[in-house]
Amino acid sequence: MVDYHALAQKYGTPLYLYDFDAIASQYTKLKEAFSARKSLVCYAVKANSNLSVIKHLVDLGAGCDCVSIGEVRRAQLAGAPGYKIIFSGVGKRDDEIREALERDILMINLESEAEMERVEMIAQEMGICARISVRVNPNIDPQTHPYISTGLHANKFGVDEDTAKRIYIKAKNSPHLDPVGIHFHIGSQLTQLDPIKEASEIVANLVRQLQALDIQIRFFDVGGGLGIDYEGEKLIEPYDYAQAILGTLSGLDVTIMCEPGRFLLGNSGEFLTRVLYEKVNGDKRFVIVDGAMNDLIRPSLYNAVHRITLLEPQGEATPASVVGPVCESGDFFAKDIPLPPTKHDDLLIVESAGAYGFTMSSNYNTRPRAAEVALQNGEDRLIRKRERFDELIADEIDFINLTNQ
Ligand code: LLP
Repeated sequence: MVDYHALAQKYGTPLYLYDFDAIASQYTKLKEAFSARKSLVCYAVKANSNLSVIKHLVDLGAGCDCVSIGEVRRAQLAGAPGYKIIFSGVGKRDDEIREALERDILMINLESEAEMERVEMIAQEMGICARISVRVNPNIDPQTHPYISTGLHANKFGVDEDTAKRIYIKAKNSPHLDPVGIHFHIGSQLTQLDPIKEASEIVANLVRQLQALDIQIRFFDVGGGLGIDYEGEKLIEPYDYAQAILGTLSGLDVTIMCEPGRFLLGNSGEFLTRVLYEKVNGDKRFVIVDGAMNDLIRPSLYNAVHRITLLEPQGEATPASVVGPVCESGDFFAKDIPLPPTKHDDLLIVESAGAYGFTMSSNYNTRPRAAEVALQNGEDRLIRKRERFDELIADEIDFINLTNQ
């Protein structure tokens, strides 16, 4: 049993809590689902890039899926070996490409022909051969929120199959490119298996066509996207997910890679916040808490639902909106949910906040970012200090230089 009062007392609020045992159990479920084949689970660091979180997964055997050189650095700091790191993203800078090559990571995931040319040029300058994969956009509707859907041609991600083929042929003929992998990722918070299976079939067929051209793909990366339970969604079971993908790979000798973020972290994390005030405007009841959209932006940005639990509820629930102190009407965690009466200092738990919570937080309204705490084997430990005001202003050098004169 988690003693939320004690944690709030010890670390203050708002506060992120991550259950490291739950993270491990999610990882194991997925890894076991793919046990029929060689597989590598590359954790999508963007979901939660705290070094202790990454290290926890790396210690379990995970690799890392990174989308900036900063994330690659984090992955290596946390102990991920280069051969388990991949670098994706539509807009990599030259310096990022160069550093990724210097770090000798498993592969750079190309998202355009233009990017291939840059990688080739930089590899040539360095006198090396760059391992690459190509992100194929299979033009499949993943049936998820439009902001987190990525597998349609209308989205900026990846390249169509013909372009992918062209890139592979050029790469095969280049002494500076080694095409080792293929990749797709059709979207996030996926709850339907068919689109994944369809995408996997398309990409597996492409691998067969490439084989006929004597291009041997060794890593088949199916991206991330497995959905989690925010509000009672019917979920894809890891076993069914793996079976659906494996079913498309007959005759292919490839290592399966996947890039889960939300599946590992989402339901393993909670956001703890304190009630400041209650008020009623006309017939609207508001519960104002000390956390805000700068801490957890998913409700504001995607209208995402996060269940909210009041600790030690008393009295009858009536509709209330849970809102933060930020000066925006969009600053809310939930609208018109049934909530018992609250009083100053009561604690609310915003659930399923482990993924895309802290990593999407900001300092809007000059609010220092929340502290993060790991819970493991019945113990708690601080894995990121609460930010302090002096840290927020420390880099505003012009002003600081002027006032020091
Ligand atoms: N691989 C690639 C190439 C991705 O673009 C993503 C997520 C993942 C893996 C991990 O997906 P996951 O397993 O976590 O679904 N901020 C949004 C989610 C954005 C996801 C972006 N890409 C949210 O809060 O819902």
